[in-house]
Amino acid sequence: MITGGAGFIGSHVIRLFVNKYPDYRIVNVDSLTYAGNLENLSDIENKANYVFENADIKNEDQISAIFDQYHIDGVIHLAAESHVDRSISGPMEFALTNVVGTLNLLNIAKNKWADFEGKSFYHISTDEVYGSLSMDDPMFSETTAYDPRSPYSASKASSDHFVRAYFHTYGMPIKISNCSNNYGSHQFPEKLIPLVINNIVNKKDIPVYGKGDNIRDWLWVEDHAKAIDVIFHTGKNGETYNIGGLNEWTNLELVESMCDILDEKLGREKGENRKLITFVKDRLGHDKRYAIDATKIENDLNWKPSIEFEEGLEKTIDWYLNNQEWIENVTSGDYQKYYEEHYKGV
Ligand code: NAD
Ligand code: DAU
Repeated sequence: MITGGAGFIGSHVIRLFVNKYPDYRIVNVDSLTYAGNLENLSDIENKANYVFENADIKNEDQISAIFDQYHIDGVIHLAAESHVDRSISGPMEFALTNVVGTLNLLNIAKNKWADFEGKSFYHISTDEVYGSLSMDDPMFSETTAYDPRSPYSASKASSDHFVRAYFHTYGMPIKISNCSNNYGSHQFPEKLIPLVINNIVNKKDIPVYGKGDNIRDWLWVEDHAKAIDVIFHTGKNGETYNIGGLNEWTNLELVESMCDILDEKLGREKGENRKLITFVKDRLGHDKRYAIDATKIENDLNWKPSIEFEEGLEKTIDWYLNNQEWIENVTSGDYQKYYEEHYKGV
């Protein structure tokens, strides 16, 4: 069972597993919120080893029935409310999906699995649970104390604690990974990189929060999917693995670099896109810097990022330019309302 498989990262994980493991039956469990989109999986939807189940992780009856029907023996749990800004305007949904939903899955897995032999519950989490770094702080490691500061990261931290509690209390075979910011194809354009690309294409203002000096550590989403594969298959039960790109950029540096790449690709004058940059009101409680020390997964499981950021960013930009129809589909309807409401006051 892979939860959240119709979302950004989940769709890359599903694609990797369905293509790489023809002998597994992959059950994608997703309730298709605004962020879930089955179009993300159109290239594999007809594969014999793939099934989609429209179900809510909070719903005990639906999830129990899926465990029974497919004899689920492994869970990779990605379903979540994932956007920090939405958690600031509506925290309750984050507690319900990310905390109660995760607890519901854990509980059903515990009850359905008569013994834990050959079973695995792998929870996908975020570096945001560790809080915010200043410029000279060391990077986050697996032993950094939790210090979540947004409703989103508080909900993810809480779900991580429940997952670990099931390991210590019931002996459930769990794994957790905490990853830095992902980028790549199929990301919903409420997130920075696809939002900037979309606004540049449409010659709309590019909203940069505060001074643009917050720092994020960016990782190619397909490298995250590969790390998930490696951890699921070779990671140790009860362990946490940090995943990151060793690739820190200020938001402004990143946005400027996208502007310049897109000047060339769209045949615009040098510097034209940078004129769209607009500094807007900062995100409340905006974490300053995230940076991941990924030594453990590199040393113990032999994983490291496969491509340089410059190459990944260019591939990402090309994907959005070549898939305008995808962008148009996901930005019609509700997205417009969200955009107008969120960016009106910022
Ligand atoms: P996303 O918002 O793109 O996708 C989330 C998916 O979960 C959607 O398909 C949605 O329909 C589904 N979903 C939401 N609520 C559900 C529910 N109640 N029942 C069933 N399905 C539900 O998210 P993403 O960016 O792909 O992130 C996936 C996971 O990875 C999340 O747990 C997130 O916290 C974590 N993560 C994300 C990043 C990142 O940079 N995007 C980095 C580290 C960790
Ligand atoms: O670090 C991992 C996390 O990365 C994941 O757990 C989250 O699910 C994912 O959404 C992401 O969180 P961020 O808040 O870092 O991502 P976002 O794309 O929303 O913002 C990236 C940075 O850009 C952040 O410093 C805020 C800033 N920003 C964002 C938007 C949407 C802007 O300056 N302007 C914007 O319009």
